[in-house]
Amino acid sequence: MTETVSFPQDRTCPYQPPSAYQPLRAEGPLARVTFYDGRSAWLVTGHAEARALMSDPRLSADRMNPAFPITIERAAQIRRTRTPLLGVDDPEHNTQRRMLIPGFTVKRAAAMRPQIQRIVDGLIDRMLAQGPPAELVSAFALPVPSMVICLLLGVPYADHEFFEEQSRRMLRSGSAQEFEDAREQLENYLAELISGKEKKPGEGLLDDLIDDQLRTGALTREDLVTFALILLIAGHETTSNMISLGTFTLLEHPAQLAQLRADESLIPAAVEELLRFLSIADGMVRVATEDIEIGGRTIRADEGVVFANSTINRDGTAYASPDDLDWHRSARHHVAFGFGIHQCLGQNLARAEMEIALRSLFTRIPGLRLAAPAAEIPFKPGDTLQGMIELPLAW
Ligand code: HEM
Repeated sequence: MTETVSFPQDRTCPYQPPSAYQPLRAEGPLARVTFYDGRSAWLVTGHAEARALMSDPRLSADRMNPAFPITIERAAQIRRTRTPLLGVDDPEHNTQRRMLIPGFTVKRAAAMRPQIQRIVDGLIDRMLAQGPPAELVSAFALPVPSMVICLLLGVPYADHEFFEEQSRRMLRSGSAQEFEDAREQLENYLAELISGKEKKPGEGLLDDLIDDQLRTGALTREDLVTFALILLIAGHETTSNMISLGTFTLLEHPAQLAQLRADESLIPAAVEELLRFLSIADGMVRVATEDIEIGGRTIRADEGVVFANSTINRDGTAYASPDDLDWHRSARHHVAFGFGIHQCLGQNLARAEMEIALRSLFTRIPGLRLAAPAAEIPFKPGDTLQGMIELPLAW
């Protein structure tokens, strides 16, 4: 047995899994890790075991369960807060998720493609007009998904600086106090927006939810505010990181980038492979409600389980040469969007955004290159969604 590793770990290269999880593979598909508060839990690194556990109803997402593991100090308070959707189990989860599904079908994402293309083109026009260098996160990677989720929800993009800043404080602040303050500010903002919409309806998913769920009594006002909060944050932070880190990774893999430029029909497969390879959401958390035998181990009731998605998605028993970035493999069964009942609701939209953003960026700016040495470009620490903090580019 190796010594217990602490969780989460920082990556040493922004597109590689934390090297500290590598030795854990030798312990089998599940190993022990410890958190900042000294508590320990299981870390899943095996692909087959992860898929089985992610869809196992004996693992709960309920943050109100006193045994639910808290992996980072700033989020300690969530243990005492009811979190609809992401933090509830079936059958309640199913009822809530069904309310949101019409907004997130493949058809709905396909219908948004022309709008996404216009947003992407407008931002590239502006970058080209201003000339190099550009900082991609602020000029492109953040505004694309932020504008798209505003359109989808019916949130005014004019408020983007406010909600992007509060999301950043929730996802990256140093203290629990700051996390709570940011959440409260966002909740107040969204509660006010929703009351305004009740008086003067607009167009968007929040307006549909007010009509179909709030007015009929199927959804409480409090839960609608939390839905809006989850969708607003999940809608822009995740995809933004995929665009920035995806661009950095492509520029660092010129042979694979050349293949994409030569054959654009590879782009959907490339997006899927980048999702697997980058696994930006690294560390989903659950608690066992019963004993579970798996991978030669017994997870006891009340023990915590954490999924190291970056390592699971590089499992050699699931993918040949897992550390190669290969557009010709089938990456589709990756767990970058999770798996089971909580599997990402926004995945169709996220795929459409990534395809359009990456295709347009590399087609319209053929000479795109890093404007600083790769090793000097800052990326996010291990306790949040993975991605670039900044990405200076020239052409
Ligand atoms: C590339 C971008 C994205 C990645 C990598 C990603 C990743 C994930 C992951 C791993 C989960 C599962 C969490 C868990 O099981 O605990 C999840 C759930 C979720 N995602 Fe995404 N996501 C992305 C984009 C989006 C977008 C664009 C939206 C919304 C517009 C969204 C909305 C959600 C929601 C609402 C859930 C919770 C679903 C549930 O609990 O039933 N995501 N996402």
